[in-house]
Amino acid sequence: MHKLLNDEQLIERTLEHIDNKTTDIGTDVWREPMASYLDHDRFDAEIALIRRSPVPFCPTAMLAEKGSYVARKAAGTPILVVRGMDGEIRAFLNGCRHRGMPVASGAGCARAFVCPYHSWSYSLDGSLKNIAGSHGFPGVDVSEHGLVQISAREKGGVVYVNQEAEIAESDLSGMPDFFTHDQEYFEQDSVVDATNWKLIAETTMEGYHIKGLHKNSFYPYGLDNTNVVETFGPNSRVVFPFRRINELRDIEPSKRNSDGVFTTVYNLFPNTVVSILSKHSTLTIFEPIAPGKTEILIYRVTNRLQDGSTASVEDAKRDADFVKGAGLDEDREAAVKIQETINSGKDLYLTFGLFEKAIVHFHQNLEKRL
Ligand code: FES
Ligand SMILES: [Fe+2]
Repeated sequence: MHKLLNDEQLIERTLEHIDNKTTDIGTDVWREPMASYLDHDRFDAEIALIRRSPVPFCPTAMLAEKGSYVARKAAGTPILVVRGMDGEIRAFLNGCRHRGMPVASGAGCARAFVCPYHSWSYSLDGSLKNIAGSHGFPGVDVSEHGLVQISAREKGGVVYVNQEAEIAESDLSGMPDFFTHDQEYFEQDSVVDATNWKLIAETTMEGYHIKGLHKNSFYPYGLDNTNVVETFGPNSRVVFPFRRINELRDIEPSKRNSDGVFTTVYNLFPNTVVSILSKHSTLTIFEPIAPGKTEILIYRVTNRLQDGSTASVEDAKRDADFVKGAGLDEDREAAVKIQETINSGKDLYLTFGLFEKAIVHFHQNLEKRL
């Protein structure tokens, strides 16, 4: 698997791009039919792909204590991830074995899960503890009615789940380590937009729109169409430099501090983005709800800085507010407007060029795997 450049190499390559007025480019132009963002069969195939892939579920930092849990839908399936009394992280189908009601919602810390419908209760390891009024269920064996387990595995500060197959260690070996245990989870956001999940994902995969779309938000601080773009497996990484990277020119390469000189955006195939910003990082999941409807789930953690310390929650929040108030909304709005064009139903296609290399890589892999 392709090895990603380190920070020192990224800074060198970015400064070269600035000097030469260049950017990393791909080799192919890709045409994606607009129908891919509208068609129900295509949508169902994408949901099936997400369900059979190891995909990020939440930062491990949300499961710091025994009993801490996160419940949400992933590719439409209600899933509960919990850290047991033995310290193990497990995932379950979040459906009671009585009549299917989710036994937990949101995130928190629990000693057991009591179904809100008829109060059957489950241990943190998923086993059924108690049937309320058990004499009404003769012949129903408690030991055979635990929550149904789903494969979960932790790597580099992220919990991955695969709804259909066991996740082997080797399945995640190509994934970078993103977060260390001293990075603190501090908030989550969730919004639903009237757009296809791929259109939102595409906004994160190129820096060719910084000047156009983010003229008054990111562009005053960031460079337009000046990016290092790498791919690893079906995934990619795009580095978005800030103008202040130029201040590092006079510093010896090995002594340069990379804090706050670029935003690093990893696209984890198919529907997750990890962004390393100045004082915080985000794990963002694009949950497809319908061909033209997507939930954007964002989990935020504090950043580890180059000197080994961790940014304060206060600094991380200020950093997050800047991103929210500026560029993020512009990207969301663009995706919604593009969906409206696509909803016309015209037999057209979107064109992705050489500057949009990571998007081309994404679509090539999607086509191959669907
Ligand atoms: S559905 Fe859970 S107790 Fe009835
Ligand atoms: Fe953007």
